[in-house]
Amino acid sequence: MSVSCDMLVFGGTGDLTLHKLIPALYHLHREKRLHKGVRILALARQSLDRAAYLALAERHCRAQIARSDFNPEMWASFADRLDYFSMDASQRGEFVRLAHYLGHVEGRVRVYYLATAPRLFEAIAANLEAAGLAGEQARIVLEKPIGHDLASALEINRSIGRVFAEPRIYRIDHYLGKETVQNLMALRFANSMFEPIWRSANIDHVQITVAETLGVEDRGGYYDNAGAMRDMMQNHMLQLLCLVAMEAPVRFDAESVRNEKVKVLEALKPITGLDVQDKTVRGQYIAGQIGGHDVPAYYFERHVDNDSATETFVAVHAEIDNWRWAGVPFYLRTGKRMAKKYSEIVIHFKPVPHMLFQSSLANRLVIRLQPEESISMQLMAKTPGKGMSLEQVELDLNLAHAFRQTRRWDAYERLLLDVIEGDSTLFMRHDEVEAAWRWVDPILKGWQGYYRRPRPYPAGTSGPDQARHMLERHGRRWS
Ligand code: BG6
Repeated sequence: MSVSCDMLVFGGTGDLTLHKLIPALYHLHREKRLHKGVRILALARQSLDRAAYLALAERHCRAQIARSDFNPEMWASFADRLDYFSMDASQRGEFVRLAHYLGHVEGRVRVYYLATAPRLFEAIAANLEAAGLAGEQARIVLEKPIGHDLASALEINRSIGRVFAEPRIYRIDHYLGKETVQNLMALRFANSMFEPIWRSANIDHVQITVAETLGVEDRGGYYDNAGAMRDMMQNHMLQLLCLVAMEAPVRFDAESVRNEKVKVLEALKPITGLDVQDKTVRGQYIAGQIGGHDVPAYYFERHVDNDSATETFVAVHAEIDNWRWAGVPFYLRTGKRMAKKYSEIVIHFKPVPHMLFQSSLANRLVIRLQPEESISMQLMAKTPGKGMSLEQVELDLNLAHAFRQTRRWDAYERLLLDVIEGDSTLFMRHDEVEAAWRWVDPILKGWQGYYRRPRPYPAGTSGPDQARHMLERHGRRWS
């Protein structure tokens, strides 16, 4: 397949473009995976000429990727594809200028990547349409968060949907571009041993943790209005939950996969009223230490309100009301400034029905997404020697090692190529985003009452004690 495409990136001087998109496109180019006919046009208000933008992009790209991956000649040939156009995307007239600049080439795909604040989504789509730039060959890519709550997400989906048909809208959740996340589907649906045990009869509970050591860096302005629930839970965490819990799709294509994910989201039991206190914990980090260094409290971060009640940690006890999962708790937690950076899914199996030995622990399947990608099964084995004492051992599959000849792709590389090639399997459909908000909204509302203030936890720990208590009440512990 060969594709000719103009990729226009709104927010071309922003962090996402410079830290993620340009390095991802450079990697694709370097490995000759970026179709020859792909041109990239970064758009932003800053008045820069092309040479100044290329210098800015090069500087960031060098800083983001491994030194051995950067090659000045390769960069020069990549830069031939890269251009910059200065414009104010909120002004309709500017799009006429843009249309002139682009000209018209029959059969060329246009991808509009909106790496901007969501409040600009609607205006950009309408302005593209008014300038005749939103024809059949045009696709639009939206970065999360899609809205602030259900009402605003519906409004974004409606206004974008008026200009672009649903198959031409790509809502990015970069977690879906991660190798191990896709491996979860391979593990479940390409190995016959898991399907018979993947249900409430055999699984005691599931834990999903995404822990970060970073704080909010220079994103305080955005984060203080969002918080961990909107920033991570509504999207990345719920997507992981869907991949663990969904039924096998009929085919591995966009509609079949997304149909199954929506069914899981729709089966999530609403958390309302007093359940908000019992089944959710929200925390905010206070001063502490990360890697031996002092770090300040969240409310002292730049662009954060000194009296902020925004959560930087959230833990939820979710339940899926369907045939396969009834009665199986899904414990999800995510937080900033935690002790370690790691993301993992742990499937806790039920113990054996009759205990023959003195000690035996239930089996666990641990799917590590980062920092290393691995899948391991924790089993009981006899320790060598006389007697029958048992120990837990790991059956370990280190994916990075198993595929050591191959460089691991960054999530954005995979997803950008998918957009260029028109494959939306790993993107969120409008009803997925809406179903996720439908579950999140009552929790956010429940937090507005007396439970408004998050529980403090020192930076560098595993979150507030209440998150531990939430599991201890059920006789369980976080992995
Ligand atoms: C982003 C969030 O979507 O995901 C950030 O906005 C978060 O707050 C990031 O840090 C985590 O992504 P990753 O790939 O580093 O786990």
